[in-house]
Amino acid sequence: MLVSPSILAADFLDLRSGIELLNRGADWIHLDVMDGTLVPNISFGFSIIDPVSRIARKPMDTHLMVVHPERWFERLAGDGVSMVTFHLEAAGRNTSANIRKIHDLGMKAGVAINPDVPVKRLFPYIGKADMFLIMSVFAGFGGQKFIYESLDRIAELRSEIQRRGRSGLIEVDGGVSSANCSALRQAGADVLVAGSSVFNADNPMAAMEALRQA
Ligand code: DX5
Ligand code: ZN
Repeated sequence: MLVSPSILAADFLDLRSGIELLNRGADWIHLDVMDGTLVPNISFGFSIIDPVSRIARKPMDTHLMVVHPERWFERLAGDGVSMVTFHLEAAGRNTSANIRKIHDLGMKAGVAINPDVPVKRLFPYIGKADMFLIMSVFAGFGGQKFIYESLDRIAELRSEIQRRGRSGLIEVDGGVSSANCSALRQAGADVLVAGSSVFNADNPMAAMEALRQA
């Protein structure tokens, strides 16, 4: 399993230490950008991504919880971001065009859905997007409880990707911990996003390793 810890749960007064921890123990670095409109919270903006990029030694995995995500693709490419995931709820009929724009800028493209969006709505993008992000909480806040129905949603998407003989990573985000990571792997997830279960752990390095070994 790939582990992409979310810096939303890091100590913002000592973000450098948080990034250095992820340089040692993570596979990717998950960056949650929120606009207060698509989701009922504001985390941090794009001005954080450039300084993070200067010290990050792992691929930056950006999760855009914003309306009009396409406004930011060029800037993210300039910051050296590897993965750009935007919400289907924000992009609607522009989803395919957004995937193309992200690819044209040399980045990998992900499409995210909240728990109330039917998984079938991702099917048209199988074979187009590099990654699908299944939210296992409603996007907007760290530290929420994992929604168990997400396991069925991941399995449904995994079997459709297989049925079509395509590839595509499945990332899961929200309430991920050592308590559910094995079930997530069995359901077909490839990438685990974890905020509080990594940064609030007594031993964050061990927490990341446990998720990876799921
Ligand atoms: C929530 C964010 C998540 C969040 C995960 O909207 O997308 O990445 O930080 O935090 P935990 O792991 O604490 O649920
Ligand atoms: Zn996220």
